[in-house]
Amino acid sequence: MRLRNIPAAYPAIEESPFCVTDGTKVKGKWNTVFPEEHPLYIEVGTGKGRFILENAKRNKDKNYLGIELYESVLYRALQRFLKEEEPVLNLRFLRADANDILDMFEKEEVDGIFLNFSDPWPKKRHAKRRLTSPNFLEKYDKILKQGGVIEFKTDNAGLFEYTKEVLEESKTWKIKEITTDLHNDPNMNEGNIMTEYEEKFSSAGNPIYKVIMEREE
Ligand SMILES: C[S@@+](CC[C@H](N)C(=O)[O-])C[C@H]1O[C@@H](n2cnc3c(N)ncnc32)[C@H](O)[C@@H]1O
Repeated sequence: MRLRNIPAAYPAIEESPFCVTDGTKVKGKWNTVFPEEHPLYIEVGTGKGRFILENAKRNKDKNYLGIELYESVLYRALQRFLKEEEPVLNLRFLRADANDILDMFEKEEVDGIFLNFSDPWPKKRHAKRRLTSPNFLEKYDKILKQGGVIEFKTDNAGLFEYTKEVLEESKTWKIKEITTDLHNDPNMNEGNIMTEYEEKFSSAGNPIYKVIMEREE
């Protein structure tokens, strides 16, 4: 998602006590960014933040961090968060490129990872940029606690197939649960929180794919 440049976005994010712009400064101490110490869940590519905000509201015993590359997009997430009548204390945002997560999170600092409607990068030469590529899975393996899972949703059949292949070939990761039609899968859809993209694609009649990944024993 790339929105037109919003001049107000950069200062608003820089000055906001709810946004972190240099994640390297809090590596290993993310709990200090939140008022209360709780398990930490991150969404990589959070977009306008609908999913992570709703998650934070539903699960007050967990801390949530929405990571987004573009300021103009994160600004929208921040605006939505600030509109909440009751402050959502367990949600913060990080403006960062997911490529750099190893500089920003200590080993096993994260309890769970969400990847929602990640950019598909359909060209083969861009495969390394896909957030489910072996390159990224290797990084998630370092920052995710043992027993933690990665939850991945997409409407993109190509990215879904690619992710399945990566997992089948992986020596570290395996598929825990999988569906090719999330909204018609009562088990996996239970408690599902729709993202902006999910709402858009499913209302256009597209099935939503979901994979939950866990480590090999
Ligand atoms: C297609 S949008 C999906 C947004 C949201 N998760 C949803 O489902 O509605 C993908 C988002 O990931 C962000 N993104 C892509 N690559 C990223 C990266 N390397 N690091 C952080 N965010 C990234 C994009 O800027 C965009 O906002």
